[in-house]
Amino acid sequence: SNIKIEIVKNKDKGGEAAYNHIKKEIEKGADVFGLATGSTPEPLYKEIRKSDLDFSDKVAVNLDEYIGIGRDHPQSYAFFMKEQLFAEKPFKETHIPDGLAPEETEVDRYNTILDENPVDVQILGIGTNAHIGFNEPGTSFETKTHKVMLTDDTIEANKRYFDSKDEVPKHAYSMGIASIMAAKKIILMAYGENKAEAISKTVNGPVTEEVPASILQNHPDVTLIVDEAAASLL
Ligand code: GLP
Repeated sequence: SNIKIEIVKNKDKGGEAAYNHIKKEIEKGADVFGLATGSTPEPLYKEIRKSDLDFSDKVAVNLDEYIGIGRDHPQSYAFFMKEQLFAEKPFKETHIPDGLAPEETEVDRYNTILDENPVDVQILGIGTNAHIGFNEPGTSFETKTHKVMLTDDTIEANKRYFDSKDEVPKHAYSMGIASIMAAKKIILMAYGENKAEAISKTVNGPVTEEVPASILQNHPDVTLIVDEAAASLL
């Protein structure tokens, strides 16, 4: 596949590697950054926070948000982004789906935002089932922003952030696979042994909707940053 692989010692080094790509893309004129949540991009956001990179004329568009919780809920992705990045590194505009807005309007609203702000660099993590954003296995590769029902795997994986499994939202809004593939450049990061299988299938497996991230094999500019554990089955 086309995927360029960078193996790093640990997630802090991965954050530095991803940061260096972002810096270079800004020098080349990148304006719109597709951002991701989860623990994987945290070291990257730390690098950006402590840097002198200026994002005050840049736009951030986030991948996804839980449905049913508002932006002030501590487990919302809006809250995560504010804490991890936006409070210290102001952007001109930040966009994230509104988890309290109805599907009838929110999906169209978000697709319009994406049409108006084509993503230059998309940051991605990956689920243990190879989901990207919240596009679970079986999602059509043609999908744009949509309402998603989370799989039990994903609810299990994300319950660590909530008081109990019952409190994990069952649905989310997510940019679709087609929305993600529209980015000019994609930086996928994965750390730890529990991502090894997803990474192996993503890079070397068949391109199939059962492995959402496998579509990245068809994108012209994907960089995969992995630690040795996540790369162990490559
Ligand atoms: C969540 C997010 C994804 C993220 C994934 C992995 O479900 N919607 O964007 O990539 O989980 O999370 P982590 O980076 O914490 O392993």
